[in-house]
Amino acid sequence: MAYFWVSLVLVLLAPTTSADPNPLQDFCVADTSSSTVYMNGLPCINPTKASAKHFTTSILSTQGNTSGNPFGVSLTVTTTEVLPGINTLGMIMARVDFAVGAVLPPHTHPRASEIIFVLEGNLRVGFVDTTNKLFSADIKTGDVFVFPKALIHFAQNMGNSPASVIAALNSQSPGNSVIPLATFASNPAISSSVLAMSFQINLMEVETIRKKLGGS
Ligand SMILES: *[C@@H]1O[C@H](CO)[C@@H](O)[C@H](O)[C@H]1NC(C)=O
Repeated sequence: MAYFWVSLVLVLLAPTTSADPNPLQDFCVADTSSSTVYMNGLPCINPTKASAKHFTTSILSTQGNTSGNPFGVSLTVTTTEVLPGINTLGMIMARVDFAVGAVLPPHTHPRASEIIFVLEGNLRVGFVDTTNKLFSADIKTGDVFVFPKALIHFAQNMGNSPASVIAALNSQSPGNSVIPLATFASNPAISSSVLAMSFQINLMEVETIRKKLGGS
């Protein structure tokens, strides 16, 4: 009887322990040209047409351009466009490059935990749990830090030179909601009175922040 209940609990827990649904075939190389089939993930190409090139990419081998945004960071991701073989496997890899003084602002991946490895540099990283407790650490080349699923987290380059990390996330589609952009640069905009009251600032300050973040 005890065995039955243990089994039942395991069966009930099993679906909640994997981030994405398990694949039903060896692989499902993404057919990125298909625009007629809509599903959870991407449809597969004919498996007999799959080859090793679908399972490799050099996209993370070079430093990204960190000057295209106000935060000084660059994000490069192994999407199904560049790595179609990752479709349905429940994982993704990314490279984040940081200019001197750069900050990857507080953000959340609603569908994934994230583990990072510092390729180069000195960073302060942290996440905040749902009781608003901060867990923060200063990490350096070779160190690893893990951000639990969906919790708000950030990273800051603390060094006098550029920094880079490699990140792995346990979803093909982790989602990336950047708190300053989601609040002050949404489209359409959240009303200024909501932001003013929420952040305890005045309407002029809302406009200043909105403009700097590219909101309208
Ligand atoms: C980096 O991005 C900036 C702004 O988008 C652009 O002006 C610059 O030419 C880029 N640099 C390189 C090396 O691509």
